[in-house]
Amino acid sequence: MPKVTTIAELRLFQRQNRMHRSWGLIPTMGSLHEGHLRLIEQAVEENRVTFVTIFVNPTQFDNKEDLDNYPCSIDTDLQKIEAIDSNICVFVPSVETIYPDGAAVKKYALQGLDKPMEGRHRPGHFDGVATVVERLFTLIQPDVAYFGQKDFQQLQIVSLLAQSMGIRICSLPTVREQNGLAMSSRNRRLSTERREEAKLIFELLQWVKSNFSSHAIVDLKEMVVQKLSKTPAFELDYFEIAAEHNLRTANSKKEGVSYRAFIAVVVDGVRLIDNMSLN
Ligand code: PAF
Repeated sequence: MPKVTTIAELRLFQRQNRMHRSWGLIPTMGSLHEGHLRLIEQAVEENRVTFVTIFVNPTQFDNKEDLDNYPCSIDTDLQKIEAIDSNICVFVPSVETIYPDGAAVKKYALQGLDKPMEGRHRPGHFDGVATVVERLFTLIQPDVAYFGQKDFQQLQIVSLLAQSMGIRICSLPTVREQNGLAMSSRNRRLSTERREEAKLIFELLQWVKSNFSSHAIVDLKEMVVQKLSKTPAFELDYFEIAAEHNLRTANSKKEGVSYRAFIAVVVDGVRLIDNMSLN
């Protein structure tokens, strides 16, 4: 399987494959799970050439400890990718390759999509994501890029960026563990017991969904806070209900608007996020 680490190697692979359009890209930070693998399978099905990038992007971590603890399993990742298709080009750049002028972050005008939820709780996070995704789009030049709906706010932001660069975005639904917990590279940092208990996050979202039409948003928000306070190991970072198209958080419902619930919880120092469409 082609594995490239430098821009020169990437360019050589691209020149050899320039006749074989279209190109699909799955940007990742490694520690691949079933959610990533579904995106890769979809890309392989839809494109002549598939690129997977593995790069733990330092500029999107607002917390140094979170970056230091981010899981890394490059050999297993390569095996998982190869098992899908041995022609996938895996780009594993160094920090210097992505940030030749030092890890500088650009400031983006993201139509307010970056302001609530993750943006509010992780200052600078989305500028870091947009900076690395723009760099990867520019280097790889894909026709289509694949992102999961688990990071729904990220998905809306990269969609905006991709639109300005003429790249199509394909998004796939969140893949869940058997108990409903959204797949995430961070889940492996949880003990078996906590991982089982973390199904509570999915159950809360399902509860909100089934009560959405009959309850006011403010009441639902209060009830989620109350329900979660009964499980002290699960510390609520935020629970919000927001309009799906512009991610503005809402305290009341408007006719014709699609809403989504967003939650972030910290469990034993591991930050877990999830979301669910409500109507
Ligand atoms: O979702 C992720 O893993 C990362 O935010 C991404 C899109 C690969 C950018 O570093």
